Amino acid sequence: MRQHLHARLVCSSCKGELVQSEASLQCCNCDAVYTINDRYVSMLDLREQAGHPSDWDRKEAEIRDYSEISNSLTLSGIGRFATFLNYGYVPHGSEQHAVIEPADAWNRNSIKLLLETVGKTAIREREVIDIGCGRGGNIAALSKYFKPLSIVGLDICPANIAYCNAKSRGSGALYLVGDAENIPFADESFDVVLNIESAHAYPNRSRFYEEVYRIMRAGGVFLYTELMPGDQVAQNVRLLEEAGLSVIRNQDVTANVLLSCDENAKQRTGAQGIAGNVGAGTNIGDINDFIALPGSKKYEEMKAGTRQYRMMNLVKR
Ligand SMILES: C[S@@+](CC[C@H](N)C(=O)[O-])C[C@H]1O[C@@H](n2cnc3c(N)ncnc32)[C@H](O)[C@@H]1O
Repeated sequence: MRQHLHARLVCSSCKGELVQSEASLQCCNCDAVYTINDRYVSMLDLREQAGHPSDWDRKEAEIRDYSEISNSLTLSGIGRFATFLNYGYVPHGSEQHAVIEPADAWNRNSIKLLLETVGKTAIREREVIDIGCGRGGNIAALSKYFKPLSIVGLDICPANIAYCNAKSRGSGALYLVGDAENIPFADESFDVVLNIESAHAYPNRSRFYEEVYRIMRAGGVFLYTELMPGDQVAQNVRLLEEAGLSVIRNQDVTANVLLSCDENAKQRTGAQGIAGNVGAGTNIGDINDFIALPGSKKYEEMKAGTRQYRMMNLVKR
């Protein structure tokens, strides 16, 4: 199943053809070199450090934070169960779109968030990529509930991809270290692109949206959630439309996410596990704010409506 995905892999930077040697992939066109080791394949073009230093600083900070989270989860002993890094979703009076109810007890709110984001989108027998896939929870749930034809997970943090590779041995999913702004796949490689709670970290949002459009096939769907300042929602929609994507759903689910944050404060896995197990001895700063626990600045801003959790579906016509 993965062979045809390898065939569509291209240089992250110039989209040129790649040749493989024992421990690397090299671009035939621009000479970029990508490393292969026994834990992951990295499609990060490290020349970006010199080309866009301030953007790269932000990306390095993400890599550092998520490596620390990964280490802490391993040390705490809950790493095996902590496969999601998102706030989750709890139903209440608002309109729901999921066609399946999660059967799972572990990470139920995160699985519910995924199923609501997917809504009625056809996934079965389609080719899917999850960008900012974190620890692979969404990919495992998509495979379990929808049986896609193939699935790729891309994340900038090598520790996350090493975890996914170790956990998913033999599952058929392909996990790669890579940057959402420089996606290492040929044009029109996927039917469905998933992006959950990751794009706030990308320095160049337009570049990401253009990359999503490029790798999607006509008729493909972009499933997208993000916590954003309320006054930036319209601007984000404009950037998505400028990239060529048409919005078919744009829902404010902040109230559902707040309910999940309330529950997270009482539990020990998923994002919530991070609260109890990460913090002391890390450089992440205010961990309660990072995961929006009740009383944190982020939680209060969501409550006040100055930050909104948006769930969007877009199509490439
Ligand atoms: C809040 S976590 C969400 C993870 C996952 N989507 C989930 O729902 O569990 C954000 C993820 O985005 C990844 N990320 C941040 N910047 C990225 C970039 N430029 N390209 C790809 N992944 C990135 C982080 O490493 C992290 O795993």
